[in-house]
Amino acid sequence: MAKPLIVANWKMNPSTYGEAERLFSDVKSGTRGLRGVEVVIAPPFVWLVSIAGKNKKKVCLGAQNVFWEMGGAYTGEISPPMLKKSGVSYVIIGHSERRRFLGESDEVIARKVRAALKAGLIPIVAIGEELRDSQDAVPSVLAEQLKRAVEGVSSKDFKRIVVAYEPVWAIGTGQADTPDNATRRAIYIRKLLTKLTGARRASEIRILYGGSVNARNAASFLSSDIRGMDGLLIGGASLEAEEFVKIVRSVAELARRR
Ligand code: PGA
Repeated sequence: MAKPLIVANWKMNPSTYGEAERLFSDVKSGTRGLRGVEVVIAPPFVWLVSIAGKNKKKVCLGAQNVFWEMGGAYTGEISPPMLKKSGVSYVIIGHSERRRFLGESDEVIARKVRAALKAGLIPIVAIGEELRDSQDAVPSVLAEQLKRAVEGVSSKDFKRIVVAYEPVWAIGTGQADTPDNATRRAIYIRKLLTKLTGARRASEIRILYGGSVNARNAASFLSSDIRGMDGLLIGGASLEAEEFVKIVRSVAELARRR
């Protein structure tokens, strides 16, 4: 089993740098010394840069967005090399909130994925269906989003991608998917990846579950006997240090018992 990956997506929070700094340092001290789990914190850009500057203990950092060009006249955008040089390792691409509110298309997402890889960042590609009651249509939605997001990615780079399955109906609603269903989705996504890049590379790709994960349900998404999810993408529950630390500890405990 791959080392579980837990990503904190702070979204547009917290509202001051003081709070961001406190949250970051509480998470850092609460997870210090834990083995067998990889933690990534993805603050909004303004706090990310300051946090990265003081990140002596080298907590793994992620960005929530990136532009697809390496440089140039693109007002308001941040390039992949800028992130890389600031000490950022991961970038979330294709989150449903960006698809919905910022109009990001599959093509834009694919460009960002390629640009991130080119700059040496690890893209966390988010895919997921809109409605819970459209279960029959889910596989085709996931297949389409995934196929289009990785268009043009070289076979060498492919295994660096992380895929996050985030059913849109489960995000921020308190209605998480069931662990069984999440496992089924992970298996399905790995099959899609196998078709796209071959079984060996597909087996190295990490697949995360996201959508209303909290300290009570976190470990259940990763405790299947067969290989399912390899980690978690966490929004709301990552904004409370204590809750997030509990999540990380429960996953570390699970990994230790394996
Ligand atoms: P949530 O968000 O944990 O608040 O449901 C997850 C996400 O949007 O990445």
